[in-house]
Amino acid sequence: MSLIQEIDYGTPASKSEKEVTLTVDGVAVTVPEGTSIMRAAAELGREIPKLCATDMVEAFGSCRLCLVEIEGRAGTPASCTTPVAEGMVVRTQTDRLKRLRKGVMELYISEHPLDCLTCSANGDCELQDMAGAVGLREVRYGYEGQRHPDPGLDTSNPYFTYEPSKCIVCSRCVRACEEVQGTFALTIAGRGFDSVVSPSMEQPFLESECVSCGACVQACPTATLNERSVIEIGTPEHSVVTTCAYCGVGCAFKAEMRGEEVVRMLPYKDGKANRGHSCVKGRFAFGYTTHKDRVLKPMIREKITDPWREVSWEEAITYAASEFKRIQAKYGKGSVGGITSSRCTNEETFLVQKLIRAGFGNNNVDTCARVCHSPTGYGLKTTFGTSAGTQDFDSVEQADVILIIGANPTDGHPVFASRMKKRLREGAKLIIIDPRRIDLVRSPHIEASYHLPLKPGTNVAVVTALAHVIVTEGLVNEKFVRERCDWDEFQDWAEFVAQPRHSPEEVEKISGVPADLIRGAARLYATGGNSAIYYGLGVTEHSQGSTTVIAIANLAMATGNIGREGVGVNPLRGQNNVQGSCDMGSFPHELPGYRHLSESATLEMFEAFWGKALDAEPGLRIPNMIDAALDGSFKGIYIQGEDILQSDPNTQHMAAGLAAMECVVVQDLFLVETTNYAHVFLPGSTFLEKNGTFTNAERRIQPVRKVMQPLNGYEDWQITQLLSNALGYPMNYSHPSEIMDEIARLTPTFAGVSYALLDELGSVQWPCNAKAPDGTPVMHIGGFVRGKGKFVITEYVATDEKTGPRYPLLLTTGRILTQYNVGAQTRRTANVVWHDEDVLEIHPFDAENRGIRDGDWVKLTSRAGETTLRAHITERVAPGVVYTTFHHPNTQVNVVTTEFSDWATNCPEYKVTAVQVMPSNGPSEWQEEYEELGRQSRRIAEPLVAAE
Ligand code: SF4
Ligand code: SF4
Ligand code: SF4
Ligand code: FES
Repeated sequence: MSLIQEIDYGTPASKSEKEVTLTVDGVAVTVPEGTSIMRAAAELGREIPKLCATDMVEAFGSCRLCLVEIEGRAGTPASCTTPVAEGMVVRTQTDRLKRLRKGVMELYISEHPLDCLTCSANGDCELQDMAGAVGLREVRYGYEGQRHPDPGLDTSNPYFTYEPSKCIVCSRCVRACEEVQGTFALTIAGRGFDSVVSPSMEQPFLESECVSCGACVQACPTATLNERSVIEIGTPEHSVVTTCAYCGVGCAFKAEMRGEEVVRMLPYKDGKANRGHSCVKGRFAFGYTTHKDRVLKPMIREKITDPWREVSWEEAITYAASEFKRIQAKYGKGSVGGITSSRCTNEETFLVQKLIRAGFGNNNVDTCARVCHSPTGYGLKTTFGTSAGTQDFDSVEQADVILIIGANPTDGHPVFASRMKKRLREGAKLIIIDPRRIDLVRSPHIEASYHLPLKPGTNVAVVTALAHVIVTEGLVNEKFVRERCDWDEFQDWAEFVAQPRHSPEEVEKISGVPADLIRGAARLYATGGNSAIYYGLGVTEHSQGSTTVIAIANLAMATGNIGREGVGVNPLRGQNNVQGSCDMGSFPHELPGYRHLSESATLEMFEAFWGKALDAEPGLRIPNMIDAALDGSFKGIYIQGEDILQSDPNTQHMAAGLAAMECVVVQDLFLVETTNYAHVFLPGSTFLEKNGTFTNAERRIQPVRKVMQPLNGYEDWQITQLLSNALGYPMNYSHPSEIMDEIARLTPTFAGVSYALLDELGSVQWPCNAKAPDGTPVMHIGGFVRGKGKFVITEYVATDEKTGPRYPLLLTTGRILTQYNVGAQTRRTANVVWHDEDVLEIHPFDAENRGIRDGDWVKLTSRAGETTLRAHITERVAPGVVYTTFHHPNTQVNVVTTEFSDWATNCPEYKVTAVQVMPSNGPSEWQEEYEELGRQSRRIAEPLVAAE
């Protein structure tokens, strides 16, 4: 194996459709108009020496190393900043150019520290490479040239260092931060020879606005900005392309390795979701994979009060299978079930639901995706006919208006946020509907045209008010609606939204959003050109989550903003494989591909292929399983890669349900909170240790490739297979590609998907079948999947969760850039430097009324429970609204959230909880007791520890 080397074309690709032909060193080349000479030469395989150019950022023209001669033109222009022209004749290698380039390199080298042999970038340094490329053999000015100012080594960032003495002031880092990441954290301070790269106001990186995305480190041609892991381990030897296991953006990375050790994760330029960019999680936070807390041996215990006993894989699997069989024999076939994970691969998820349907013989399968995006599935299937977003990420480059509702992309989907920000800097307009003043409302060179700070729980009212303006002001795209949608249903809907009670003025009374903002936003969305909607859990995690998704779809259809590039309805998925886990049939009423169990022909096809009669009755959802456990009719559960105790609402209820079961089997990387109630622990494998696929928010199926052997001995799909075999339902896959072949065989939208195709194309967006052999980037072109687009009336029904004298504030929850979900992975990385506890954001007005100062402990109480955390006073939240994250188990914010859920899908209402906040002296008693319970529950029996 070797390192994958990607070509650096020097400047970004031109998007022009017009082509231009020129000759470079006598060879003709045809490229799009606007391409640089440097890039045209690179297309021919001719690398012109360069230092300040790289194809991730626009050309800058500062180093003068890339000079060329052009026939008929005087001088030697820089090839990176000179665009091609028809008939141009370019020479890249002449004696004059060689002399000039050597002269430039001499100047650079004369002032550069000559410690190449001990430099961490030795062998991976473009300055070194260019000295070789220009044939530099001597430096006329000596090696002791004047040095640039050196503010000293900055080691503040946990993942990379900044060593200014090695800087050649090429500005690639500054441009990467601006153009690729959009943070503008870096600048060149000083002038002329005294210029130096400086984070923010000459602060250390850690204290600056830097969000640690790594784009500057990747862009740096020297060791000035360098990964600590490279400094510590050495330069990598080989690499494997795989997919990030954190969020639903699905960034492709080159895992660069030395032996079995990951040296660094480098974003892959060919990755179609990320186009060579990354965020701090995927780029740097992979240390959890070898963290000391990982449990690598199976364990069992008869009672949850017993210490764990390490056992062989055979004993653990046999014990789990015999317990499930015993329970089914005693309490009935439906007394057991399982939960699939949106963190696991498609193949693993498919296998778990297969084990439950064919091995357990019931449909008691559910997924953590229920608690985030199940309303997306319901709402988009109802209106458009497919349970998925409509666009690819590239589509945002064609958007003129971007409407973000209930999402915080810079924290939740950072790489896509950077692409959005780029488009916004180019001039697209922005509308944000969110109770919080998220970063995108105002960030460098970006300002939202409208921010609608609605009261949590009023999404349906506000989106319907937008529709009211569109209908009553004659902004409907009637041609589109007549051609593409059911006209009668449209008319009913139009009449409904036009009612005066849906006017912005009336809705202002419910939502708190000034009517003029609603009117302005509606007009902009309807008339601003290509308008694209992006939404997140702030839409779905409500009692009317499905209704809001439908209301959004109505808006897109009414204005004709669907079925082409630049528009659409785009759910931003939380976890890496939320889309995939839903696609793979993780819900109790649906087989893979969203086919209801009542479709008898489909059920029969599965029965024939799986060789087993299947239950046609839908099974239990997670909340029903927990209720049934408390009723005594549900006794055993197999949970793969999901910490339901921390991630699901109403923690006490969940804990009581789990405690009432006789066999809880958890397959995970760590002893997560749910394992406090487990009887069998099966060690899971990380994304670096397995093969498979993830499907991102764009419906893009991407390969996950094994870069190291599983430390626990098995990939997760193999563990499910062992369990199924022990249960008596045989599975004999030898590789996940065989599982994908089965998925393709049984699922029409996946019919064309295979590992061979993924190797060939890199990734593919479903539907991928005979009609669309290379996949489907944009859906519903020319017609909706369901036929006519369906308008559905969206009556606003206020949630039962109401504020009142006891609980006067509304709590809404979300995530932060550096932590991921319940934090099991990111809390075991250096990311804790940025966020080591959950805090409660509270408006200064509400804080002052309660005598709360910034950093004080506060007690957060709802009718479901209470917890204690520190206050952070900020105007990001409106008066009457408080906000926190849910990444830390010692806060357990879901102790406070309630059992209310979406009417259609049971997705919990995490985003609206009536609470009170009062000063406190420190963590509640239960929090201390809970920590003690965790300590007790993680005990491993002594003799076996000693024998290790
Ligand atoms: S790591 Fe990212 S955000 Fe930080 S300075 Fe570099 S490019 Fe900017
Ligand atoms: S830190 Fe690296 S990328 Fe930035 S100016 Fe210096 S050498 Fe260039
Ligand atoms: S966490 Fe999301 S945005 Fe960050 S690198 Fe991974 S997939 Fe990309
Ligand atoms: S690479 Fe063209 S001027 Fe530096």
